[in-house]
Amino acid sequence: MKLAVIPGDGIGREVIPAALSVLDAFGLGIEKIPLDIGYGKWERTGSAITNEDMDIISECDCVLFGAITTPPDPNYKSVLMRLRKELDLYANIRPFVPLKSIRLPCDTKEFDFVIVRENTEGMYSGVEELHEDVAYTTRVITRAGSERIAERACILAKSRKKHITIVHKANVLKSCSFFRDVCIGSAQRNGISHREMLMDAMAYDLILHPERYDVIVTTNLFGDILSDVAAAIAGGLGLCPSANIGERYALFEPIHGSAPDIAGKGIANPIAAILSVKMMLEWGGWVEEANSITKAVNSVLCDRITTPDLGGSYSTTDVSAAIAKLI
Ligand code: NAI
Ligand code: MG
Repeated sequence: MKLAVIPGDGIGREVIPAALSVLDAFGLGIEKIPLDIGYGKWERTGSAITNEDMDIISECDCVLFGAITTPPDPNYKSVLMRLRKELDLYANIRPFVPLKSIRLPCDTKEFDFVIVRENTEGMYSGVEELHEDVAYTTRVITRAGSERIAERACILAKSRKKHITIVHKANVLKSCSFFRDVCIGSAQRNGISHREMLMDAMAYDLILHPERYDVIVTTNLFGDILSDVAAAIAGGLGLCPSANIGERYALFEPIHGSAPDIAGKGIANPIAAILSVKMMLEWGGWVEEANSITKAVNSVLCDRITTPDLGGSYSTTDVSAAIAKLI
């Protein structure tokens, strides 16, 4: 397997090397192609990613991505958005399961749900107009785009509780009733039961009753917001991984950003990045190795070897070294 490695900026440059040290502990012979992409490059060259970078990435099988700081330029186009679009990474998969000994903000300790977010269209279609006194963003919801994300959710549901929750705002948005109807059709064809939730009610209920949910399917912007809500439920941004999956490529990334407030201090929590490597191994068929990462992470958390965001005083590399050692 050929892996493009994009640490990006800020703590991306700390958590990705930490996660790679855990990957290296398996000795799987994965070829790593390091790429310098992001805000630093934009400052030096005026471009955060080049066409040559895209060519190199498209010759790899998958990408491990840290985070990229958004440059203060109104014309800047998000690198991550470009990667998701050009590699057609249409499914953003974010699992949320409580890790051992993590203090959670909700009473419920028993939950295990996955947000399946459409990743290429919706409010992030890129179809926008900025005028003097008005601005437009076109929300594009296509049948093909909705069908393939709904199918992804149903395939996942078949291996879990055979149930999906469709999150939308069909009471006010026609594009949402379209999305919902496509999802219901897909659920019925696949023999999967479904429930609908309005996005605002969902944000409320997910915080109070995360245990009620299993596979959640939704559109791009709603999925973006709901997954940060879910990260808080699961104990913090430093713990939550994600996978961006298409037919041919995949990209794995912690859901947090470049955290300029703590960058360079060596205290960023590497667990979200390490669990992103776990998702990559699962995707590549190394299921046993993937499971051993979860086990090692939980064991290190039980030993209270944690970074300051979890109340500990260990460094990024202390945590990753403890996990790598168990592996
Ligand atoms: P952020 O996720 O970088 O940070 C939010 C808060 O969580 C900060 O207080 C930070 O210190 C903390 N935090 C995040 N990850 C952590 C970790 N691993 N360990 C310990 N604490 C952690 O979000 P923010 O501040 O809104 O964005 C910062 C920059 O990152 C912006 O330029 C933003 O555009 C970019 N960003 C990039 C993303 C990406 O490339 N995927 C995603 C989100 C934001
Ligand atoms: Mg987000």
